[in-house]
Amino acid sequence: MSRNYWEEVYQSKPADQVSWYQQQPSQTLTFIESLDLPLDAKLIDVGSGASLLVDQLIEAGYKNLHVLDLSGTALQATRERLSEKGLDISEIDWQVADICTVALEPQHYDVWHDRAVFHFMVTEVHQQQYLHNVRQALKPNGFMILSTFAEDGPTQCSGLPVERYSVEKLAQRLGGDFILLHHEVEIHITPWNTEQKFLNTIWQFRN
Ligand SMILES: C[S@@+](CC[C@H](N)C(=O)[O-])C[C@H]1O[C@@H](n2cnc3c(N)ncnc32)[C@H](O)[C@@H]1O
Repeated sequence: MSRNYWEEVYQSKPADQVSWYQQQPSQTLTFIESLDLPLDAKLIDVGSGASLLVDQLIEAGYKNLHVLDLSGTALQATRERLSEKGLDISEIDWQVADICTVALEPQHYDVWHDRAVFHFMVTEVHQQQYLHNVRQALKPNGFMILSTFAEDGPTQCSGLPVERYSVEKLAQRLGGDFILLHHEVEIHITPWNTEQKFLNTIWQFRN
């Protein structure tokens, strides 16, 4: 997937004028808190864009945060926003990288979070590269919180084709070493008041 494409998106639009913008990613925070992990658990948000999830995680007291995206512009916007809020960003790991090809520290993360990134993996090669990286980087018994467009969600996002998922299709795609803990459909309201159906899921990695 093209880094230039996503750079152009974040350079040409304010962070709150993209279809996936959420003023408060509170559902994800609820999911993370439901896992009952210590505040020093290691969390990675892959394809974070300029999401406000990291703000909420810092405010909730989480200390080991890793934020990764293809777009350096999106990460810079996030850093600036956090600094303006006076939040401490000195301990956050920032990484501009492609989640399909990046080498992450093995068995390192307690939680892998992805909202609206995996569904852009529409080829088997990209899906396998991505899943290889999740398996490498998660600790045994670690958790993956994955949100994709639902089976009756949009067919495109930001002008790119996406793969839509039912929970059964996602379970098959992930493979038997991911145990489904929770799933629900969420209706996301875009900044221009249209509805998008997401499938929000929590999995535990049993390798
Ligand atoms: C639809 S946005 C979602 C952003 C964020 N997760 C949220 O929910 O607000 C998709 C994000 O994934 C990033 N992205 C797309 N492909 C990627 C890849 N291969 N590696 C890392 N990031 C990627 C894009 O730069 C963009 O920020």
